[in-house]
Amino acid sequence: MKTRIGIIGGTNGMGKWFAGLLRKESCTVYVCGRKTKLQINDLARLCDVIVVAVPISSTANIIRQVGPLLTKEKLLMDLTSFKKEPVKLMLANSRSEVVGCHPLFGPKLKDASGQNVILCPARGKRWLKWLKTIFKKNRMAVWEETPEKHDKMMAVIQALNHFNTITLGMALARTNITPVEINKFSTPIFRTKLDIIRKVFTESPELYLDIIRGNPQTEKMLDIYEKALKDIRSKIKTDSRVKSRKAIKKAAERLYGSKNQ
Ligand SMILES: NC(=O)c1ccc[n+]([C@@H]2O[C@H](COP(=O)([O-])OP(=O)(O)OC[C@H]3O[C@@H](n4cnc5c(N)ncnc54)[C@H](OP(=O)(O)O)[C@@H]3O)[C@@H](O)[C@H]2O)c1
Repeated sequence: MKTRIGIIGGTNGMGKWFAGLLRKESCTVYVCGRKTKLQINDLARLCDVIVVAVPISSTANIIRQVGPLLTKEKLLMDLTSFKKEPVKLMLANSRSEVVGCHPLFGPKLKDASGQNVILCPARGKRWLKWLKTIFKKNRMAVWEETPEKHDKMMAVIQALNHFNTITLGMALARTNITPVEINKFSTPIFRTKLDIIRKVFTESPELYLDIIRGNPQTEKMLDIYEKALKDIRSKIKTDSRVKSRKAIKKAAERLYGSKNQ
């Protein structure tokens, strides 16, 4: 019998992407959203694996709702951009196997081969093996990590990064330069940055704000960011070229190693 998967939040976004991947792997996939005929109870009854792929703000409620409906031999997993809270909640609200999962890319990416997927194994081994096989078969790089390490890294890769993009977009908007002028004077690097700003500001700003707000390490990262901004600003303004050059050289050594400059 084919493996039956139920994706809560599978009508759109990452859930829809995951549904496509699993159908390609010959699984039977059922999806639900808030307005679908099939609802959470139906999926829990019909499926071997339940995937929670709803917006971050609804994730805890959905886990609390679906977790108790699952028997021991099933799998409860999620695709949330955080891992500590969802994994803790999945464990506390179910008896089933539990795996936290975060694909480190968005649903619009045409080919996910080569992309990173973080798995946080939490209870049981059987479904973990199944999940790893599917991602690896599709040539994704699968990494097993703790939820704590995942969230710590996401404070940099996502919270700090998206905050930086939002700050640049806000500053740009304050200059009152028209889009026509921006296009006329843009360099290739600036165009790349504009594309990233457009994605964050127009595609799903709520997701980016949830990612920044929800990470417990965000404040710490923003303190580091502010310090870095103040430091390089003052060096550029007041110091000789030597000092600012030295500061950049030191940071480059930390980032890329001394040989790669
Ligand atoms: N987008 C990304 O780049 C990305 C990447 C990696 C991980 N993630 C994670 O994936 C999860 C989903 O994000 P997304 O960007 O894919 O969101 P999305 O595009 O807004 O899709 C959310 C899905 O959840 C459904 N939904 C919303 N509220 C629901 C509820 N109360 N009950 C049942 N279904 C509900 C929506 O359907 P209806 O509106 O029809 O109800 C839709 O199918 C989040 O945890 C996010 O952190 C996102």
